[in-house]
Amino acid sequence: MFLKSQVLFLVLVFATAAAAISPGSTLLLNQTWSSPNANFYISLVAVQPPTTPPSYTATIVLSGGVPTVWSTGASVDSGGSLQFLRNGALSLVNGSGAAVWDSGTADRGATSATLEDSGNLVISNGTGTLWSSFENPTDTLLPSQNFTVGMSLKSQSYSFGLSSIGNLTLKWNNSIEYWTQGLNSSVNVSLNHPVLGLTSIGLLQLSDAKLSTPVVIAYSNDYAEGNSDVWRVLKLDNDGNLRIYSTNKGSGSSTVRWTAVQDQCEVYAYCGNYGVCSYNDSSPICGCPSENFEMVDPNDSRKGCRRKVSLSSCQGNTTMLTLDHAVILSYPPEAASQSFFIGISACRGNCLSGTGACFASTSLSDGSGQCVMKSEDFVSAYQNPSLPSTSYVKVCPPVDPNPPPSLGETVTKKRSKVPAWVVVVIVLGTVLGLVALEGGLWVWCCRNSTRFGGLSAHYALLEYASGAPVQFSYKELQQATKGKKFSIWAYEEFERGNISEILDKRLADQEVDMEQVKRAIQASFWCIQEQPSQRPTMSRVLQMLEGVTEIAKPPAPKSVMEGAVCGTSTYPSSNASAFSTIAVSPPVPSSTSSFQTSAVSTFPSGVKTEKATLSLLKSDT
Ligand SMILES: *[C@@H]1O[C@H](CO)[C@@H](O)[C@H](O)[C@H]1NC(C)=O
Ligand SMILES: *[C@@H]1O[C@H](CO)[C@@H](O)[C@H](O)[C@H]1NC(C)=O
Ligand SMILES: *[C@@H]1O[C@H](CO)[C@@H](O)[C@H](O)[C@H]1NC(C)=O
Ligand SMILES: *[C@@H]1O[C@H](CO)[C@@H](O)[C@H](O)[C@H]1NC(C)=O
Ligand SMILES: *[C@@H]1O[C@H](CO)[C@@H](O)[C@H](O)[C@H]1NC(C)=O
Ligand SMILES: *[C@@H]1O[C@H](CO)[C@@H](O)[C@H](O)[C@H]1NC(C)=O
Ligand SMILES: *[C@@H]1O[C@H](CO)[C@@H](O)[C@H](O)[C@H]1NC(C)=O
Ligand SMILES: *[C@@H]1O[C@H](CO)[C@@H](O)[C@H](O)[C@H]1NC(C)=O
Ligand SMILES: *[C@@H]1O[C@H](CO)[C@@H](O)[C@H](O)[C@H]1NC(C)=O
Ligand SMILES: *[C@@H]1O[C@H](CO)[C@@H](O)[C@H](O)[C@H]1NC(C)=O
Ligand SMILES: *[C@@H]1O[C@H](CO)[C@@H](O)[C@H](O)[C@H]1NC(C)=O
Repeated sequence: MFLKSQVLFLVLVFATAAAAISPGSTLLLNQTWSSPNANFYISLVAVQPPTTPPSYTATIVLSGGVPTVWSTGASVDSGGSLQFLRNGALSLVNGSGAAVWDSGTADRGATSATLEDSGNLVISNGTGTLWSSFENPTDTLLPSQNFTVGMSLKSQSYSFGLSSIGNLTLKWNNSIEYWTQGLNSSVNVSLNHPVLGLTSIGLLQLSDAKLSTPVVIAYSNDYAEGNSDVWRVLKLDNDGNLRIYSTNKGSGSSTVRWTAVQDQCEVYAYCGNYGVCSYNDSSPICGCPSENFEMVDPNDSRKGCRRKVSLSSCQGNTTMLTLDHAVILSYPPEAASQSFFIGISACRGNCLSGTGACFASTSLSDGSGQCVMKSEDFVSAYQNPSLPSTSYVKVCPPVDPNPPPSLGETVTKKRSKVPAWVVVVIVLGTVLGLVALEGGLWVWCCRNSTRFGGLSAHYALLEYASGAPVQFSYKELQQATKGKKFSIWAYEEFERGNISEILDKRLADQEVDMEQVKRAIQASFWCIQEQPSQRPTMSRVLQMLEGVTEIAKPPAPKSVMEGAVCGTSTYPSSNASAFSTIAVSPPVPSSTSSFQTSAVSTFPSGVKTEKATLSLLKSDT
């Protein structure tokens, strides 16, 4: 027994000793220093995006290479190395021997550097810590790492911090606060020294001596799942969003489990100066407001846009470019000074010819009566069909709008020979047709009384925009649908993937974009849902048809007694977060759920409760 524990003790001593980096050690390219259990290692990793010639930075990475949890920031050529110098400094040295980064621990009695199993790189003098990577984070927070007031995670122009009252904020350029989350106001305490931490099971929580239990800020959507090989990290990505990632140790890949800013386009300056953020099928994309602008870097749309002609050298007076369904992002601390209660024409006119400097304005048609005027020559815009606002950008005449998206690059991958309006007409026709037919069938089956006796066998179903009504005889339909209810028959065909079966045969010899047809049909099925609450609003139908949003698989139709019609309510909400749940796809698709805690709440110990906000399209059916 005694011998056993002694052996164990020796093994432990040996393991720690092996992990310690002694003064004089040098780490070259392709070499690693590992933590005792090999969870983490330090190596020189090529900088992303790649440079020519390649450059390298010293990083701590999780076994498998993903994710990177800490780095020196500065980079060196392929002849560079990370050295733990005899004077006690950890130093990144380039090929010609110049130090480009230093831990600042020279001549302070450092005796060892250790990469611990937690991922913390510690330089100690034998009794105390002189420097640690946990106290000097870059863009990542690991479980057991304490994030305190004054620390920050940084990624390009973005930073994440914690305030002494416990608010978490994301800032751009160290000033614009585009996301903040604080304690629930029912937690009425003034905090001493709040500490933010990510637990190994995936809770992001705030602790303080004044709080009896830690307050949960966010749940990773896989919290408490998986075994000890699942690692979770909190990372500020270079797109300005804060995410929790999960990774299986050694797998080399990670999955997004929580995202702070649900709508990526709401991240300030995501598309750079004068960049306009919008969505294609799957991702946020960046463009310029009009052809009066050009991309700063055609190879990187996130770098923003610049005017082709500067305002000071306009030929003639400046004018305002109109951007429909667009907002100019405005956040604290600027927001208050940029906001005015004026009408839409004054919002345009005052910006064009008002006394102060003004480069762009937004009239928020959301009932608030507000106008946002941008007095700084830095404009970050968001355009989306569901946004009920109109924006104006000051330009030199003539206004040269962007070509409509249907002709351009983004929305349609393959341009079909059937024009978009035909598809839209077919959709609306299908919707109305389904409603009319179901109603008709119901009348025919159930009200087969004398009052309806003279019912004709012909039903007008589709009306094309051309004005020519398209009629099917009842027999035709019965043959086509093999005697079933049309919607049920159509759904069965759709389930089997026979989308072309549902299509009007007269379109068979035309080239039809089946992706668009599929979207149209899926949208139709959502529109004929029995539960009114399940039917989408008109703006959502528009998003579905335009492919702005993913369309969830619609539930099978039942009988439709009342006329189920789309667009039962007006705009969903002017509040951008209301549509963000369906409009946004994070960069790693299929990974995030629609579940997000909207505010801070106390974690009920031992009970797994979830407050899930199910959006219309993601309902489990
Ligand atoms: C590192 O490895 C790569 C390929 O794995 C090799 O091309 C390169 O020469 C190596 N560099 C050094 C300094 O060993
Ligand atoms: C190393 O860094 C020094 C100082 O920054 C610089 O002058 C030198 O060119 C660098 N050498 C290499 C090989 O990058
Ligand atoms: C080690 O560092 C700690 C904290 O900086 C200090 O309090 C302690 O006196 C140092 N010990 C030695 C042996 O230098
Ligand atoms: C984080 O804080 C806790 C409690 O304040 C402490 O026990 C723990 O040692 C700290 N972790 C690190 C890595 O400093
Ligand atoms: C970014 O920050 C710097 C320094 O605080 C400031 O001078 C500059 O005006 C800021 N840029 C914008 C566009 O706000
Ligand atoms: C802290 O966050 C809350 C909302 O979560 C906000 O109302 C409050 O103004 C914030 N305080 C500061 C100082 O940013
Ligand atoms: C918070 O607590 C203070 C005293 O501790 C009290 O005066 C104040 O009304 C409380 N505020 C709320 C919102 O409960
Ligand atoms: C959407 O944009 C992303 C990023 O630019 C691109 O990779 C993707 O292919 C685009 N998708 C479609 C359907 O155009
Ligand atoms: C864009 O990329 C192409 C090819 O990758 C390159 O030839 C061109 O110089 C790049 N343009 C800019 C502005 O970087
Ligand atoms: C430009 O504006 C000035 C004053 O606002 C006006 O007098 C002048 O006619 C305008 N010029 C043109 C070409 O519209
Ligand atoms: C704040 O907490 C109370 C009780 O803990 C809860 O009822 C309330 O819904 C919370 N508010 C928000 C906005 O989450």
